[in-house]
Amino acid sequence: MNPIQEKVAACLKEIRKITDFVPEVALILGSGLGALAEEIQIQETIPYEKISGFPLSTVEGHAGRFVLGTMGETKVIIMQGRVHYYEGYAMSDVVLPTRLMISMGAKIVFLTNASGGVNSNFKPGDLMLIEDHISTFVPSPLIGPNVEEWGPRFPSMGEVYNQGLRDLILSVAKEENIPLQRGVYLQTTGPAYESPAEVSMLEKLGADVVGMSTTVEAIAACHMGAKVCGISCVTNMAGGSAKNPLSHQEVAEMADKAAPLFKRLVKRSIEEMKE
Ligand code: HPA
Repeated sequence: MNPIQEKVAACLKEIRKITDFVPEVALILGSGLGALAEEIQIQETIPYEKISGFPLSTVEGHAGRFVLGTMGETKVIIMQGRVHYYEGYAMSDVVLPTRLMISMGAKIVFLTNASGGVNSNFKPGDLMLIEDHISTFVPSPLIGPNVEEWGPRFPSMGEVYNQGLRDLILSVAKEENIPLQRGVYLQTTGPAYESPAEVSMLEKLGADVVGMSTTVEAIAACHMGAKVCGISCVTNMAGGSAKNPLSHQEVAEMADKAAPLFKRLVKRSIEEMKE
């Protein structure tokens, strides 16, 4: 077995010692959005440190545990706190939790994140349905020997964010009167925020928002045949300036502010994802 596959298998074995829970949806919570885990009828929580070999997050505001339970009738596993490439992990470790949750049975991966607005029509506090992504600025999580049981060597990325799930989220947003932008998410490695010149470059490339996560998890999930969807919380306009430098605190504060609408949209959407 290839070492990456072995690592996922070992983590799965550890989880199966604790629970036989089979999730339908895997939900990954972004920076400052951890409170969403309050929306679940909890059956079990598993701190990451209980799973030996599991990559542990070091970022402030990332709790670091799986929360298992139900939203409505839908069985969900929530990743409260993710690991980022900028923390120094191999990209295969960054996507290990995604692969693990799919190996537990999840057929849908719901990605959330905080991002900087690149599209000048966006404003801090906006929510954006991710329609597509640009992942060109980060290494592919699929580099290395391919695991044929997971997916093909050269997977298509023609529709990473599933159209049916996008339609479902849009209709929930409409029903609930929640304003929802749509657009393209671009991932950088971080951890530095973008310079003004970089922001104008990203705009020319077709990005609507920029962040430091998500596209690699989407690629790994898509590779394994899971359906993917995602919502981004625009916490700030990308770039900042000499007068108004960007800070992690600003990002966290705006994520907090947007949390009530964000929670409602994600929870209601997941409830509708019952098969
Ligand atoms: N840039 C990159 N990542 C981010 C930003 C940003 O402006 N805001 C929140 N995450």
